[in-house]
Amino acid sequence: MSGNQQTRSKQKAEDQPRSFLDEDWSWSDPSSWPLSIKFLPVAVAIIGIGITVYFPSISGQTPLSTLFAENSCRGTFNYTFQIARAKAHAEGLSTHDWEIGTAFEAILELISPEKSVFGSNPFPKGKIPIRYYKMDEALSYFYDTVPIGEGKTLAENGFSVSDPASLGVGSIMLGQTSPKRLSAIEKQKDYLLDEAPRYANGAISHRVEVAELWSDSVSMVPPFLAYYGVAKKNLTLIREAVRQCELYRDVLMIREGERKGLWKHIVGPSDVADEGAWSTGNGWAAYGMIRVRATIAAWSTSRDEMGKEIVALDSYILEIIEAAMRNDDDDSGLLRNYLGGSTWFGETSGTALLAAAAYRMGMTMDRSTAERDRILKWADSKRKAVARHVDADGVAKPAVNSPKHGQREPLNGINPEGESFLLMMGAAWRDCVCSGGCPPDP
Ligand SMILES: *[C@@H]1O[C@H](CO)[C@@H](O)[C@H](O)[C@H]1NC(C)=O
Ligand SMILES: *[C@@H]1O[C@H](CO)[C@@H](O)[C@H](O)[C@H]1NC(C)=O
Repeated sequence: MSGNQQTRSKQKAEDQPRSFLDEDWSWSDPSSWPLSIKFLPVAVAIIGIGITVYFPSISGQTPLSTLFAENSCRGTFNYTFQIARAKAHAEGLSTHDWEIGTAFEAILELISPEKSVFGSNPFPKGKIPIRYYKMDEALSYFYDTVPIGEGKTLAENGFSVSDPASLGVGSIMLGQTSPKRLSAIEKQKDYLLDEAPRYANGAISHRVEVAELWSDSVSMVPPFLAYYGVAKKNLTLIREAVRQCELYRDVLMIREGERKGLWKHIVGPSDVADEGAWSTGNGWAAYGMIRVRATIAAWSTSRDEMGKEIVALDSYILEIIEAAMRNDDDDSGLLRNYLGGSTWFGETSGTALLAAAAYRMGMTMDRSTAERDRILKWADSKRKAVARHVDADGVAKPAVNSPKHGQREPLNGINPEGESFLLMMGAAWRDCVCSGGCPPDP
């Protein structure tokens, strides 16, 4: 018994980790090195990785302490609905070009918020962010899903001029390490500016066959032109992005009556023309403009040169949000598929996208204003209504059947763009809470 004890205490002495300061080790005999020396390369590697991952913030203007607090708030954030499953649907079910472009944007905002245009420093040193350590989830989704465009546009689309442009931002980000993608983007830009049909006032048509304006287009073309403008350091392109928003507004905005300030869905010569204020369409318009606004504000040159344009865009975005607030009258708490149409069902897709727009807009406004409070409270109430309509599998319903927007019954299934809008709404709310601009849910 005493012998056992002796053995144990001897072992204990040998197990004591050696210290750097102990003298009984030598450089020539690695087995004698104390742990602190053995693990030195590991420590150096960890610090190296830390610097690599946080390099963008170290070189930027965000204080690290703020960044860590925001990151930990984001990391533990409770979205109150099944956002991970919604993300899986957005990735798995998006097949059309605009759905994929929208899913990419939504995943970027959710998973890599610092690289989206709403981040604190989306253009480090005035440049498009590149990957530092590993490819972001949004970029690897895009890389796996979107082949390099071979033709004049980033995707083949015989119907829509605008929709392939929704692949623009992802292509520009990937293009930083792929010259082939860069030349496809240049062709896409040339097609939009030099070749695509134009409406009488100069607005780039949403359609290939006829010159027709759809509110959807505002989320596809202007955010791409603005982002490309930053990539090329070309203010003309950014100004064109703003001008296109204005030309669309001139034609689509409703000027009288209860729906004043909302946008019609489709104006043009074909039989799909639609005077209704489609909820999702108003979301496309407001969210597209706020992405352009954020892009301008995130690059110092455009921010300095385009103050007037930012003010103008803010007024157009607010005009839509305020009008949606006035036409918010369904008992479900959701916005109706057509705003101001009392026979239309309340619907999750447009509500989620307009709530996201309202959060993003509210975050740009002066914290002391009553209007900001009103907008953020409304965003909260729409978000909660949407969250109540997301099931345990992350499916939001009732949702519009988007390609058949005039269908009287909600979609029997999952709306891919609607799932992406859930991510945008969740990310916008989280960013507002984590930056101290919105109260967390009680
Ligand atoms: C997240 O929030 C929801 C709704 O407020 C609550 O029911 C749920 O328990 C919360 N989840 C966690 C993990 O805190
Ligand atoms: C900026 O872009 C426009 C439109 O593509 C082009 O005409 C112009 O030459 C560009 N300017 C510069 C300085 O590259």
